[in-house]
Amino acid sequence: MSESVLEVKGLEVTYSTNRGDVKAVRGLDLAVRRGEILGIAGESGSGKSTLAVALLRLLKPPGKVTAGSVMFHPAGRSPVDLLKVNGEQLRVLRWSALSYLPQGSMSSLNPVMRVRDQFKDVILEHAPARRESLGELIPRLLGQVGLEPRVGRMYPHELSGGMKQRVLMAIAVALEPDLVIADEPTTALDVTIQRVILQSLADLRSDFGVTLMVISHDMGVHAQLADRVAVMYEGRLVEVGDVRQVFKNPGVAGGYITAVDDVSFALAAEPPQVVSLVGQSGSGKSTIARNVLGLQKPTAGSVLYGGKDIFKLSRAEYDEYRRDVQPVFQDPYAIFNPFYRVDRALWKAVKKFGLASTRAKGLELIEESLRAVRLEPENVLGRYPHQLSGGQRQRIMLARVHMLRPSFIIADEPVSMLDAQVRKHSHPYTQLLLDSIPQPDPDDRWTGRIAVDELDRLDSTTPADTPAPEAPIL
Ligand SMILES: Nc1ncnc2c1ncn2[C@@H]1O[C@H](COP(=O)(O)OP(=O)(O)O)[C@@H](O)[C@H]1O
Ligand SMILES: [Mg+2]
Repeated sequence: MSESVLEVKGLEVTYSTNRGDVKAVRGLDLAVRRGEILGIAGESGSGKSTLAVALLRLLKPPGKVTAGSVMFHPAGRSPVDLLKVNGEQLRVLRWSALSYLPQGSMSSLNPVMRVRDQFKDVILEHAPARRESLGELIPRLLGQVGLEPRVGRMYPHELSGGMKQRVLMAIAVALEPDLVIADEPTTALDVTIQRVILQSLADLRSDFGVTLMVISHDMGVHAQLADRVAVMYEGRLVEVGDVRQVFKNPGVAGGYITAVDDVSFALAAEPPQVVSLVGQSGSGKSTIARNVLGLQKPTAGSVLYGGKDIFKLSRAEYDEYRRDVQPVFQDPYAIFNPFYRVDRALWKAVKKFGLASTRAKGLELIEESLRAVRLEPENVLGRYPHQLSGGQRQRIMLARVHMLRPSFIIADEPVSMLDAQVRKHSHPYTQLLLDSIPQPDPDDRWTGRIAVDELDRLDSTTPADTPAPEAPIL
């Protein structure tokens, strides 16, 4: 058996547009080793997704493979050039030898089909012989990605983003393919759920022996998951190597993506401030949030809190830090367990952080915090996350933060999931968070924003000279 699952030689992909040809992939040579997790890194537009769809023969016009070959070596079958096989040969290879988790795939589940029927569709189309074993196979596959059997009976809208992604991963490996190509599998998920997805991907490799090609613009993903990393830049592969080698000793100038470069800033405790971190998508804002939360250690530099390096804290000190510094994420749905009612999520925080000495005091605290975000406790406590509106979920997350009385809140795109309607009628807390996000408004009320522009360095910060609005939690 060949040591490589895939051998790409001289691949070139061109998009012909009326403004001329764009060579999105240029003379790319790459071998994917059997059993490895190969990370494909590179900034947005560097050609990663184009490479994926070209390998999978899913490239759509005006895209065209203009040169190269892609030898695929599925176990127990003869090698084929994926660029030369016909439609029927491709159909046979798809799912059972070669699977794909497209970018933004979470929306690719059929909204009117139960999860188990989506498994059936794929399995029966490509491996009808397994019809008999479906009843046993589906729960097993779900279990493999940490989902309970009853998820099979659910519809996509009942699942959080992270759960949908795990369902798709389970479907991708249902027929035990040799190679799975996952394009940005963690993008659009909040940081805690990203970790779950990364762990599940790693498990798929160890449990199924599947080879994974994981595409991500986020170097943190590669740091946590990849054995080797290939870096793309303007359609070319500028570096391939062992993950440690690439991270510690990047060889090619210009090809290595530094998400956050020499950023320095300080936040003052007094008076309470709202500081905005501004920048385009991909400019490194979430990476900074992860660094400050202690979830990802920077490759250089330090994060000091009260003068102490947060990556050098003892376990107990770090726990204290994580209570004092609370995140508010983009998609509050992702942090709730969809099987538990809201009260359980809030009680969990009360217990975990020892917020109340008695049950009565705990309930009082929960109710007070819900009222503080203008939710009626009796209306929401008995509901499941999917029975709440996006705005209500977001406010419940704020209520949870409110209960903990943190000194510092890190809000990563906290209102981007809310529609304009919700924003307009939002509670002062939400409004406060909303106001901390700069709108493209020339009449800016905030000065001294921290701006991270593209991959640019951050060089100055001045405290906002407008006093922060009344803010009990900031
Ligand atoms: N359908 C298309 N038509 C024309 N140009 C495209 C098309 N899709 C992608 N491109 C161009 O190809 C290049 C690579 O894009 P893409 O593969 O999506 O990069 P990445 O996945 O790394 O963000 C970019 O310059 C992009 O603008
Ligand atoms: Mg892409």
